[in-house]
Amino acid sequence: MPYKDKINKEKLPRHIAIIMDGNGRWAMSKGKFRIFGHKNGVKAVREVSEACAEMGVKNLTLYAFSTENWSRPKAEVNALMELLVKTISSETKTLMKNDIRLNTIGNLKSLPISCQKELNEAMEKTASNKRMNLILALSYSSKWDIIRSIKSIAQQVKNGKIDIEDINEEMVTSELSTHKWPHPELLIRTSGEHRISNFLLWEIAYSEFYFTTTLWPDFTKEDLYKAIIDYQQRERRFGKTSEQITTDENYS
Ligand code: FPP
Repeated sequence: MPYKDKINKEKLPRHIAIIMDGNGRWAMSKGKFRIFGHKNGVKAVREVSEACAEMGVKNLTLYAFSTENWSRPKAEVNALMELLVKTISSETKTLMKNDIRLNTIGNLKSLPISCQKELNEAMEKTASNKRMNLILALSYSSKWDIIRSIKSIAQQVKNGKIDIEDINEEMVTSELSTHKWPHPELLIRTSGEHRISNFLLWEIAYSEFYFTTTLWPDFTKEDLYKAIIDYQQRERRFGKTSEQITTDENYS
């Protein structure tokens, strides 16, 4: 049976987050420059976005550029930014055709103006699309986002709007840049690394992790289906016992 047919449509994750890793190694194994890997990574972005939209996954977050990635060689950073502008500009039509809304998380103001412009235009154009949210994490790090949340709450305490005792989980969540979407049920990282790399630290408290040795440019729809099947075979207990889960439909 093809992998796709083994997926239970009733138990799809509402949100999948992916750490796209291995572009550089993929290129170097072919005797090419690292940017060749990033360029080929765009193909995988397209594959995965299409597969999620087709299946009915409502939210997909892709870690495209971390705060820490700014310390890469200048030539690689510039090439990545250029690739981003080109890709957004050429893919907006496809996003419209597939009813996908483009969103971003991260410190957009730190991106080159040309990037900000392209992203803002694409986000505006796709704003009323309903089938799926494609969320690009750009100049993003989870600690950066959590600090923003803390500062905003501290300001509300200072202004007398809330009391320290009012601070709770919901409030911290609501001040994060990810507040509009459910937390990811499934987190995928490619390339064989077993790290979270400052990605969605708060949001993945109860996510299921899936690691694969496949390098990102080689990641296909089939690989995504395999990850979802693996996820669907897991028992998500949220701190409860197995017996409680089987009698509690909310957690099935
Ligand atoms: C990690 O591989 C990948 C990145 C830092 C960039 C990801 C970018 C793309 C897939 C292309 C553009 C994306 C969009 C959304 C248009 P790495 O360079 O760390 O690989 P390595 O670990 O093998 O060195």
